[in-house]
Amino acid sequence: MNRPRCDQTPAWALLQQHFQQVRGFDLREAFAADAQRFERFSQKAPHVFADLSKNRIDDQAEALLLQLARECGLAEHRDAMFAGEPINATEGRAVLHTLLRAPDELPPGAPAGLAAHHAEMLATREAMLAYAEQVRADAAITDVVNIGIGGSDLGPKMAVAALDDFVVPGKRFHFVSNVDGHELAALLPRLKPASTLFLIASKTFTTAETLTNARSARRWFEQGGGRDVARHFAALTTNVAAARAFGITTSFGFWDWVGGRYSLWSAIGLPLAIAIGAQGFRALLAGAHAMDRHFCEAPLAANLPVRLGLLDLWYRNFHGFTSRNIAPYHSALRYVPAYLQQLEMESNGKRVDLRGQALPFGSSPVLWGEPGTNGQHAFFQMLHQGTDVIPLEFVAVRQASHALDGHHAQLLANALAQAQALMLGKSDAGGHRHFTGNRPSSFLLLDRLTPESLGALIALQEHRVFVSGSLWGINSFDQWGVELGKVLARDIEPRLASGDLAGLDGSTAGLLTRLRAA
Ligand code: F6P
Repeated sequence: MNRPRCDQTPAWALLQQHFQQVRGFDLREAFAADAQRFERFSQKAPHVFADLSKNRIDDQAEALLLQLARECGLAEHRDAMFAGEPINATEGRAVLHTLLRAPDELPPGAPAGLAAHHAEMLATREAMLAYAEQVRADAAITDVVNIGIGGSDLGPKMAVAALDDFVVPGKRFHFVSNVDGHELAALLPRLKPASTLFLIASKTFTTAETLTNARSARRWFEQGGGRDVARHFAALTTNVAAARAFGITTSFGFWDWVGGRYSLWSAIGLPLAIAIGAQGFRALLAGAHAMDRHFCEAPLAANLPVRLGLLDLWYRNFHGFTSRNIAPYHSALRYVPAYLQQLEMESNGKRVDLRGQALPFGSSPVLWGEPGTNGQHAFFQMLHQGTDVIPLEFVAVRQASHALDGHHAQLLANALAQAQALMLGKSDAGGHRHFTGNRPSSFLLLDRLTPESLGALIALQEHRVFVSGSLWGINSFDQWGVELGKVLARDIEPRLASGDLAGLDGSTAGLLTRLRAA
């Protein structure tokens, strides 16, 4: 498909002109001038309501951004992804994480090529969910340890914490990712081989950190008298042969058309399926699927992932904002910022377009955040009065699932107050107590935190990342940038033992020598 890159369209030039006119855009004036601003800049989507009205955007900018999306063939690109075309061009792969949450029956008219993938996916989904139910019913297993990193860790870790209210009693869930032995060494003394299930999660089954942790776990298991590896170890991988060679015979597969950071919905979700059960996992998939339908079917102007993705581009390429803060006002969503960091920064942290040409504009912003209200007592000072403008994305949940009096109202009041303070500011003659205000934020609201709403929230984030990546003309589905460090680590590791400094730069040689000093 020959799609123009965003900066090669008529809409881009018009947006540049328009930006010159709205440079001084003031949110307070915009609300004063338009009683309907909240209605016009809010958007309903399945399980998620979004208030986008506190953003530095006007009707004309939004109309031009939508024109840009049309001129860049966004809808066609989206449809190509859902149809299983190899849009991950640098790896020659389809991008079909959305198929993982498809219902048992494909809709009539679904592209023929999807049927085979769908059948394989269903068979694995059923096997994995049956296994999850078996483990849930097995009272002898009290601890489930997921060993994986990146996309084979962040999704299930985030979701198990988020859905804590739905987690089966009597089992503990642990996530070991870092090759730093302090992590695994601190966990092992709390476990017993006979009551532990290790899930070795690795798409490629070649990731050094995961294999090192898996080897140490197996050694601990065997040294502790464990015999039945087939019962106590399972692999979640596209590389079942490598898992077997490692000695693991219980495997749940997935496919190269599932990117690591998009793999929560596949066998990589097994720890979550054990935690919340087959029914809960199906509900997560259903929530994500509802968001997929919205992304495919809602007109671009009323399409939440599209509106968020366009706003991201507007901020990054016209306002020049380099960062976005994600502020979940729910402690169960504490791992969402880390999850979104991989999703957005590994997907869109690219400096060349699909043709390999250097981008003349910025791509992925820096994503970061902490749950509110904690962040308010740490870095919000900088968000309110620092020299950089950093758009925030609040995520709040209307209903609490605890019964403690007063807490939830206080929490929600704080989320609203922060968004309000950022926008309104406070005048104090330019002194230390002065808040300039006009600092933008979006507000995502879930009714309750459930498997469905979490699925929808995460699918929403996946699609908004797709939107900006698509318009930037980059491949959001490869990650070549992580390779160089892996190669260099393999070269350095034996030098730590041998002391060989040949060919090293002065700094690396100096540090290596210090690390070896007695
Ligand atoms: O190094 C980055 C990365 O390749 C991620 O993209 C991926 O999620 C992670 O490593 C883990 O890879 P694997 O699941 O193959 O072990």
